[in-house]
Amino acid sequence: MTENAGATPETTERLRRLGLMMVGSLLIEFIGGIAVTFWVETPESGSGWSGSSPMWLVMAHVIWGTLILLLGLWILIVARKGKSRTWLNMGAFGFVGIIIAFAGGNSFMSDVSSDAASFIMALGFAIALFFYAFALFKKA
Ligand code: HEM
Repeated sequence: MTENAGATPETTERLRRLGLMMVGSLLIEFIGGIAVTFWVETPESGSGWSGSSPMWLVMAHVIWGTLILLLGLWILIVARKGKSRTWLNMGAFGFVGIIIAFAGGNSFMSDVSSDAASFIMALGFAIALFFYAFALFKKA
């Protein structure tokens, strides 16, 4: 019995499509994060929500991050409905990675001098990418 025993081939195919979309979206968020690092001027310390420029670049990163969060949730819903244990488990770990990145992003914006917050964002990204890639690998 495989871990996806309860899932129909259609559900598995749909989840794999969503998973691939997630990997692509995470990579876009990664490139966006690097762009923010290089091209957004933040104040020396304190909150970055005022005084950072160009703010649209930060907001594009935040909005894309929010869409990623929704996609993560969607994957969990499809996995639950379709009874796919692989995608439910790996999707849950991946989702936690996205939450960690979100928390890091928010905390960085509260204190832009925090290297740790920036690192947590990168760590959350790596955790998320790993688990969605792992789910794709398991159902090759
Ligand atoms: C409210 C949500 C978020 C905010 C406010 C935010 C903000 C930022 C900022 C200001 C930077 C530049 C950091 C620096 O210059 O050191 C950054 C970088 C980055 N972000 Fe986000 N981010 C958010 C969510 C996310 C999410 C959800 C991901 C991935 C799942 C992500 C991935 C990254 C990566 C990989 C970098 C580059 C490496 C780093 O500096 O950590 N971010 N983000």
